[in-house]
Amino acid sequence: MVNIHEYDTVALDHSDDSLTIIDQTLLPNELKILRLKTLEDIWEAIKTLRVRGAPAIGAAAACGIYLRAKEISTEHYDTFHSQFTEAKEYLASARPTAVNLTWALDRMEQRLLLCGKIDRKSILESLKSEAEAIISEDIETCKKIGEYALTLTQKGWGLLTHCNAGKLATIRYGTATAPIYLGQERGYNFKVYADETRPLLQGARLTAYELMSAGVDVTLICDNMAATVMKNGWIQAVFTGCDRVSMNGDAANKIGTLGVAILAKRYNIPFYICAPTSSIDRKAKTGADIVIEQRSPDEVTSMWYVEPMSAKGVKVYNPAFDVTDHDLITAIITEKGIAYPAFNKSLADIMK
Ligand code: MRU
Repeated sequence: MVNIHEYDTVALDHSDDSLTIIDQTLLPNELKILRLKTLEDIWEAIKTLRVRGAPAIGAAAACGIYLRAKEISTEHYDTFHSQFTEAKEYLASARPTAVNLTWALDRMEQRLLLCGKIDRKSILESLKSEAEAIISEDIETCKKIGEYALTLTQKGWGLLTHCNAGKLATIRYGTATAPIYLGQERGYNFKVYADETRPLLQGARLTAYELMSAGVDVTLICDNMAATVMKNGWIQAVFTGCDRVSMNGDAANKIGTLGVAILAKRYNIPFYICAPTSSIDRKAKTGADIVIEQRSPDEVTSMWYVEPMSAKGVKVYNPAFDVTDHDLITAIITEKGIAYPAFNKSLADIMK
């Protein structure tokens, strides 16, 4: 089995001015590294989930806007800025829910604004180092989340996770998988259950694969088996990632997370959201302020099947995310510490 941990989820290659990503739509059957050079190709890769996971799409967009900036030939600052803004809005339109996408693009624009009217070459140097910082800081951020999360566990525990908030969704460690990887290094012997995560199977195709690559004891289950493994007493904690957290602690994550949280409450299992502060949206007061991406019906009816699995033309509802209500969440684990209820206060303190 290829060790996926030896490959970068997102990287800038200066030798040919490209963004390199692993094409996650092909995993685990094929490992293909894509070299993306145009804004359109980067937009398409984000939209179609070749690169996915909130922090990874933020990092990919930061690299994308830098590569686009290199193509803007004018020495005129205002023209440069307006073409930069146009590209930023275009990339931000690829996916609406993960706030990390706009967070990373805003950060790149802030860097441009801080440069002011200096020469084009220095601006590009500055944008390059910002994109690289977004990538490298993510590693430390995830590691810190993992260290905090590990303090909430005990050796030998059964852990359940949903979707892929792993290395493939970040640069290294993942968010929800960070305690699992750190625990693996330190002999915690976790038994991990990965929900398959319908309809796009990020849990089956990506989480189970990357955990296996690292030698973690992982068991793949269909989404509708989570209740049974909880009832069996096999799960002592749930860790998931998130795409956007509102200031009252409501957390949007992959569709199905809400159901897992409701089940965890039923069986008195702590339910933790792992969230870099780049996923916390100061502008969203509650989950009602979070836009939920709707995706194509064929993801539900036919995408993973040889034959369509439903009647042609059937009405389909395919929201990519749901919002877990804050009262179902035991704690939100960030790189700056663990926020407990009341989240209005604890998240505001963390975001100071
Ligand atoms: O549609 P996806 O695969 O991008 O959804 C990803 C998730 O829901 C992840 O859990 C979330 O982005 C957190 S990644 C650290």
